[in-house]
Formats: sequence, structure tokens, C-alpha cells
Amino acid sequence: DKGGHKYFMAKEMAEQPSAIGDTLAEYLREGAQGVVLPSEIDFSTVTRITMVACGTAYFACLTAKYWFEQLARLPVEVDIASEFRYREPPMPDGSLAIFVSQSGETADTLAALRYVAAQGVRIASVVNVPESSIARESDVVLPTRAGVEIGVASTKAFTCQLTVLAALAVKAATDRATLSPEALAETLAALRAVPGVVNQALLVTSDIAGVAAEIAKAQDVLFLGRGAMFPLALEGALKLKEISYIHAEGYASGELKHGPIALIDPNVPVVVFAPMDRLFDKTVSNMQEVMARGGKVLLVSDAEGLERASDGVWKWIKMPKVPPVFAPIAYAVPAQLLAYHTAVAKGTDVDQPRNLAKSVTVE
Ligand code: M6R
Repeated sequence: DKGGHKYFMAKEMAEQPSAIGDTLAEYLREGAQGVVLPSEIDFSTVTRITMVACGTAYFACLTAKYWFEQLARLPVEVDIASEFRYREPPMPDGSLAIFVSQSGETADTLAALRYVAAQGVRIASVVNVPESSIARESDVVLPTRAGVEIGVASTKAFTCQLTVLAALAVKAATDRATLSPEALAETLAALRAVPGVVNQALLVTSDIAGVAAEIAKAQDVLFLGRGAMFPLALEGALKLKEISYIHAEGYASGELKHGPIALIDPNVPVVVFAPMDRLFDKTVSNMQEVMARGGKVLLVSDAEGLERASDGVWKWIKMPKVPPVFAPIAYAVPAQLLAYHTAVAKGTDVDQPRNLAKSVTVE
């Protein structure tokens, strides 16, 4: 049942505030001070995190790396499962391995988990299907409560994965006492605010469908972001590729001049995720390099960011003001909507894109 929506993807995007709220309720228990996990992980004894996943779940891991490092001062290694499993990486004492998978059945992720288990490392998994193989073979199961996701392009599962990983980073920061009491309180408030912020992001009145109708004419699209917006640039590009079949690449804004800037011309729209945060000016200067070379920029920012930097941009999407730390969860929404409306404009099969399966159970 598509609940009145044209596609499951539209329904699933719209469900995000409640799915994230349900997910968060598992970790922010009433009466408890901070984050409570379903089974305890004491991060003060963890010296390194290894995160492994595929596709969109891998981008959730890449985002979480920024959070674990910045909030909890923990070294984090992130890898795609198909590479990790055959590399035979050493797992030092004190490692915690985290596997992220919507289905919990992805063959490469499961094989990577079994490799790590054989090394005697503690395994936590972030899964949407609690009865799945990955959940069953983990020491600690950290559920997302996204509900069933039918669209092949992951949307609500992704933002719920990010939410669990954000909660986990807050737990790690608490255990390791890496934040001042004020900073910890502020970060917890930002975590609690996520469902509301995602709801506001869904309600933005910017004409995303109109922008998407233009994007639909492109053959190539670039996505740029800095800091935790970099993995989101990768995710935005994957989403667009998957359902609209437009070639898209995500880059770290700072990498632009190391190669991809050669691609800039008026036929290649460049989507820039730039919330008003401490890296804003750096991202904007990369964006201006694009515009100086005739590139068409679609700037995704909040009112303040647009006020400061929208001169000369091709199009913009106005986001609500969000607490910077967990901004990738909110900015996932315009990334999804852009891909969705582009696919609708092109008339592709949004829920069942060609060549793709919802769950990849063979390697
Ligand atoms: O079930 P999983 O989360 O393990 O699946 C991983 C990827 O196959 C999945 O995220 C894929 O990249 C999606 N089609 C992305 O939209």
C-alpha cells in the first residue's frame, strides 16, 4: 500500500520523521539521562572502531566516522564489505566492529562479519531486520525502526541508520568523557531534535520538482560537500544514478581542483551541500571556483547560507536551520527528493530501477 503516494519511495521519504522518532525512542529512554543501548557497549574500553557495509549503508558509516572522531575522539576505519572481506585486515585489541545493513542479509557484509568474528572481535550491527543473519551473528544488535522499506533506493533506512550511529557516537562521547557537560547537553539536544528537523526539511517549499526537471536534462551531475557533507555528496550521487540513470559523482569539495574541476562546463550541474557551519566559507570558495569556470551550481543551504552565498548560483534549495552536528540527516532529504523528482521527470521506474535488487544476497 503506497498510502496515497505515487511510489513507495515517496511514501518512505515522507515516513522519515516518524521512522526516525521510533528509532530514537529505542536509544533515548524516558527517564534516562543520555543514550541507552539495548546491550551495553562501554566505549571507554574501545580503542578503535571498524565499520563495514555496502552502498548507502557504507555512506552512513562514512558519515559516522566524522561523529565518532569529533565527538568521542575514537579512531575509525570504514570499508566497503567486498574489499574488506578479502583484504584480511588485522584487528587490534580493543577493536569494536560495526556492521550496517538494512536487510541484514547482504552477502559481502555477512562474510566480512564472519571474518571479524573469527578474530574474536566484538561485533555490533545496525540492522532494520532484527531476525536477519547479520543480526543473529552479532554480539550487540542496534535496531533501526524504519519499518519495511520497499523502494530499492534506500531512504528512510539510511536516515534511521544515521540516527542510530549518531546516538552511538553520543554514547561513546559520554563513556569517554570527551565533551564538556555543556557540549554533551547540546549534542544530546541536537540528537533529540532530529525527527523534527527532518520533518521541517520535508516541508521546505523550494521548488525541488522544478529544479529536478532541469537536472533531468543533464548527462552528468556532480555533488560536492565538505566534512560530514562529503559522504552525503556520495549518497546524493548514488541515489541519482540508481533511479534516474544519470551519471553522477560525489566529491569532497576540496578534491575538486585535483581533477574533477576539468569536467566543469554549463552542461554539468553541480549540487553543493553547504549548511551554515564552520566549513561553510571553504565550501563556498570551492563553489565559486565552479562558477568561475561556467559551472551551474545548485546550492543547498539554509536562509543564512543562501543570503551570504547565492549570488550567481543557478538554482537553490532552502533548508531549515539545523544544528550543524547532525546536519547530514536533514540534508539527506533534499538529496533524496532531488533524485526522486528527477526520476519522475524522466519517467523511470522509481521503485524498481533496472538491474538492481533490494537485497544483494550473492557476492
Ligand atoms: O541491505 P543493505 O543495507 O546491506 O544493502 C546495502 C546496499 O545494497 C544498499 O544500500 C544499496 O546501495 C541501495 N540500493 C542504495 O539505495
